[in-house]
Amino acid sequence: MSASDKDATRLIHAGRVDEPLLRTVGPPIQKGSTVLVPTAAALYDDSKATYGRAGLATQEALMSALAELEHATTVRLFSSGLAAITGAMLAVLKAGDDVLVTDAAYKPTHRFCDRTLKRFGVTVRYYPPRATPDEIMAMASPATRLIVLESPGSLTFEIQDAPGIARRARERGILTLMDNTWAAGLLFKPLDHGIDLSMQALTKYVGGHADVFMGSVATRERALTEALDQAIMDFGWSVAPEDAYQMLRGLRTLPTRMTRHQQSGLAVARWLRDHPRVARVLHPALPESPDHAVWARDYAGAAGLFGVVLKPCRKRDVHAFLDTLQIFGLGFSWGGFESLALDGDPQFGVRSFRETFEGPVVRLNVGLEDPGDLIADLDRALAVVGAR
Ligand SMILES: Cc1ncc(COP(=O)(O)O)c(C=O)c1O
Repeated sequence: MSASDKDATRLIHAGRVDEPLLRTVGPPIQKGSTVLVPTAAALYDDSKATYGRAGLATQEALMSALAELEHATTVRLFSSGLAAITGAMLAVLKAGDDVLVTDAAYKPTHRFCDRTLKRFGVTVRYYPPRATPDEIMAMASPATRLIVLESPGSLTFEIQDAPGIARRARERGILTLMDNTWAAGLLFKPLDHGIDLSMQALTKYVGGHADVFMGSVATRERALTEALDQAIMDFGWSVAPEDAYQMLRGLRTLPTRMTRHQQSGLAVARWLRDHPRVARVLHPALPESPDHAVWARDYAGAAGLFGVVLKPCRKRDVHAFLDTLQIFGLGFSWGGFESLALDGDPQFGVRSFRETFEGPVVRLNVGLEDPGDLIADLDRALAVVGAR
C-alpha cells in the first residue's frame, strides 16, 4: 500500500466531531445526508432520524421556534412559500375531492389549483374574498374536503372572517388551510382561531431580507402532521440547513421589524389617502376600510404591505409613476427591509369575481426606511401622473 492509499482512509475518517458541540447563540448548521447510527439495530429504528433529508439540528431548531410562534404542536418546512401551500394541499387531497379557494389567493396558488390539482382529478371552485362563512358553506358539497383562505387577499387586501369560516367548516368535517403570510404568524394566529393548517411564506417577513426562500405549515392535529410527513417523505422535499439558519436569524427580529413596518406603512397609507391623485387606499387598518372591523377584532397589528387605487389614469401614467420612484424599488415579493412597488392590474386576469376599482391598483411594500423619505419619494412620483 502506498503512503497516499493510507492517507485515503485516514482522511476520510479524520476530523469527525464526536464530542458535544460548544453552545452558541444560534444552532449549529448541521449538514448531512447520511446519519451515522450507533448499532445495526438502530438502522431501522423509525423513532429516530436515520437520514438527513427531512432536516437535522438546524431545521429542527427552526421548526421548534416556528411552533412557538404559531402556537402549533408541529411545523414543517418547505423550499418556498408556494411549495408550502401546494405541499399542504397535496398532503391532504385525493382524486374526487372538492376544494373551495378564495378568489383573492396569490396568483400562483390559482395556477396550481387550475393546472395541477385539476390534472389529478380535484375540483377547485373559487369564492369571493368577502364571502361570509354562510355563503362559503352554501357552496360546499359532500365532496368538499378543504377550504383555502388567504387573508388579507393578495393585492386587494380583503380580510376574511377566519374564525367564523373555521368554526363552520369544522361542523361539516371540512379542513381549513390559511395563507397567513401578511400576518407572519405574529399578528394573527390561525390555529388559535380553529384553522387546521396555518401556512406562511417565510421568504417575506420572517426572512425579512429578500434573500432566502422558504415556507412553513403549522398544525395542532396529529393526523395532519402525519399527512404532511408522509407527503414530505413520498415527494422527497427538503430544505438546506444554511437557509434554515438564516430564517431563524430573521425570526429573532420579526416583532421589532413588524412594529416599524406597521408604523411606517400606516404613516404612508394615511398620507396617500389624502392625495388628490389617489382614489382610495386598500389597507384593513384604516377605519374606512370595509374590512376594518374584522381586522380590529382578530389582528394584533398590521404589516407594511397594502394597495393604492389611483384615480383613473392611463397605463403609461402608472408606469411613469413607478419609473419616477427612487427609494421604492420595482419588484415582486415583499416583507423585506426595502420598500417596493408594482402595478397590480396585470395579475387580476386569474380572478373570477373582480371588484371594479376607480382606477389602476398599485401595491406598496413599505420597508424600514424613514417614512418621511418614502412619502417624499411617492409625492415626487405622483406629480408625474397625468402631467404629460
Ligand atoms: C401571499 C403569498 N403567499 C405565498 C407566496 C409564495 O412565497 P414564495 O415566493 O416563497 O414561494 C407569496 C409570494 O409572493 C405570497 O405573496
